[in-house]
Amino acid sequence: MRVVRTVADLRRTLEPDEPGRVVGLVPTMGAYHEGHLSLFRAARAECGLVVASLFVNPAQFGPGDDPEAYPRNEAADLERTAAAGVDVLFAPSVDELYPPGFQTWVEVEELSRPLEGEHRPGHFRGVATICLKLFNLVHPQLAYFGLKDAQQAAVVLQLVRDLNLELRVRLLPTVRDADGLALSSRNVFLSQQERTLALALPRALAAGAAADREGSDPVAAARAALNGLAPDYLATLDVDGRRVLAGAVRIGKTRLIDNVLLEGDLA
Ligand code: PAF
Repeated sequence: MRVVRTVADLRRTLEPDEPGRVVGLVPTMGAYHEGHLSLFRAARAECGLVVASLFVNPAQFGPGDDPEAYPRNEAADLERTAAAGVDVLFAPSVDELYPPGFQTWVEVEELSRPLEGEHRPGHFRGVATICLKLFNLVHPQLAYFGLKDAQQAAVVLQLVRDLNLELRVRLLPTVRDADGLALSSRNVFLSQQERTLALALPRALAAGAAADREGSDPVAAARAALNGLAPDYLATLDVDGRRVLAGAVRIGKTRLIDNVLLEGDLA
């Protein structure tokens, strides 16, 4: 695996583009868990060249949400990407991607407003901008995202469609611990007691999905099953024709998001 830190080195590494070679991109912010590894494996299985990016994107953190506090473990991440068969890991500095004078932003307007957008103003502007930059730098035919960040997936799919980008987005299912908690880099911040409380979120979403199958209101059922937790939101969301039930809760200082698919599939 080749680790590259600069745009110039990335361009040199990816040239020349071999005819017929399928390039897959897995954009990440590091602190890898099984969810990320499932994206690397999927990319490895169908691409001739697998590029992953490791960049804690400051532009998607709002006020009071410190990028410096995001979990980081680059040494372990390098080992895990290499073991997962990633060919090129792009791990630039902030200045490399946002040099002084940077001022161009991508806004996916409507989809970015509700849910996460309401609680994290500017978040999806940062996500859409960094994704477009990565797509422009790597020119992947396939880009891999987890459905765990369902609204992010909807925003990226809209960006690809609206800007006529020549790539396909692959969505992979959320990976969960045995107790049902969705894997997230932020789970490391939960104490044992907070982790137990956090289980109310996947259980509530499962209750919502069960209600939906029976023709009842999934949001009301999930809310009733939240075990007293006050969610930032619980709502259904369209992800490019799929219907998901999504929720976010705060447990202590940690904010967790999760969702379940109500209708549609990922293929
Ligand atoms: O899902 C993430 O880790 C990030 O939002 C992404 C897509 C890598 C953009 O920074």
